[in-house]
Amino acid sequence: MTDTTALESEFAARIEAASDLEALEALRIDILGKKGRITELMKTLGTLAPDLRKAQGAAYNLLKDAVETKLGQRRQALGDAALAARLAAETIDVTLPARPVPEGRIHPISQTIDELVSIFGEMGFAVAEGPDIESDDYNFTRLNIPPEHPARQSHDTFYLVGKDGAQYGNVLRTHTSPVQVRTMLGQKPPIRIIAPGRTYRSDSDATHSPNFHQIEGLVIDKTSNMSHLKGCLVEFVRAFFEIPDLRYRFRPSYFPFTEPSAEMDIACTRGNGELKLGVGDDWLEILGCGMVNPKVLAMCGIDPAEYQGFAFGMGIERVAMLKYGIPDLRTFYEADLRWLKHYGFLAVDVPTLSGGLAR
Ligand code: DAH
Repeated sequence: MTDTTALESEFAARIEAASDLEALEALRIDILGKKGRITELMKTLGTLAPDLRKAQGAAYNLLKDAVETKLGQRRQALGDAALAARLAAETIDVTLPARPVPEGRIHPISQTIDELVSIFGEMGFAVAEGPDIESDDYNFTRLNIPPEHPARQSHDTFYLVGKDGAQYGNVLRTHTSPVQVRTMLGQKPPIRIIAPGRTYRSDSDATHSPNFHQIEGLVIDKTSNMSHLKGCLVEFVRAFFEIPDLRYRFRPSYFPFTEPSAEMDIACTRGNGELKLGVGDDWLEILGCGMVNPKVLAMCGIDPAEYQGFAFGMGIERVAMLKYGIPDLRTFYEADLRWLKHYGFLAVDVPTLSGGLAR
């Protein structure tokens, strides 16, 4: 009778010595394969006397089980080790700074919009949007600018004409204010939105572009008043220009959609070809604002006896030029790579109030 104990320890030792999964597989074939050692032993059973065959067969089966178990354990151990080695070899240092993108930059307009959204976002404003092609009704009439209103002239409107040459009451929006109309028609107060986006006017020189950008703000509830408007905008300009004690003033003004209306100026000093913001005796106008005209509320389906609120609007190019010292408006749209490299922002610098708006 063959001594399976000795065989078992021999196989166990060889399995333990297998240094990788390939060697282990070769060993499995050598022991359990078609011509393997145990298979060959099994074949000899037929030559034995019945009693002996039974005992020997049982011993071979136990041996086979033991070898299979050992192979399984070793396979697991080698697999774990291979995985650990691979993970160690493929480790990357995530604390390494990202490779700088050599050419591409975030355009100052995009950067400024991100900054505005982040500041007003922290104050609880949601971002609303509207289409660039707007109806005359939303762009003007429901903002209390009826067809004969003189304010229409000041807007240098692009009126859209159909293929037949006729006008169907659509314009390229001249301001972001129609998003106020859409928001009020579409949702119930309380409303607290900002609407950044493209705007169009038929006007072109060093300080005007036919396509420019504005951001609109709208707050409607039962109690918001002029002092909330002031608090909100003062907080905003100080955060945006990153000047905590920035001086400002509100001047009475006129907009058809607000009553009373005001314009906000920030202090500045000019001299030696330099513009310093936040201090001094000169003033720079930066936005228009006011309490939403009750007529506008009514035309937008909100009961002015129950609700009130404020609105504001400003030019994005204008505040970007002031903040980043960009002298000529036209350069924003020239797609000049040298300009973009100078005034643009790295994609990895995402503006947040906590992390710093622009570095
Ligand atoms: N829509 C105005 C413009 O384009 C800007 C503006 C002024 C918006 C006052 C407002 C506001 O919401 O209250 O000139």
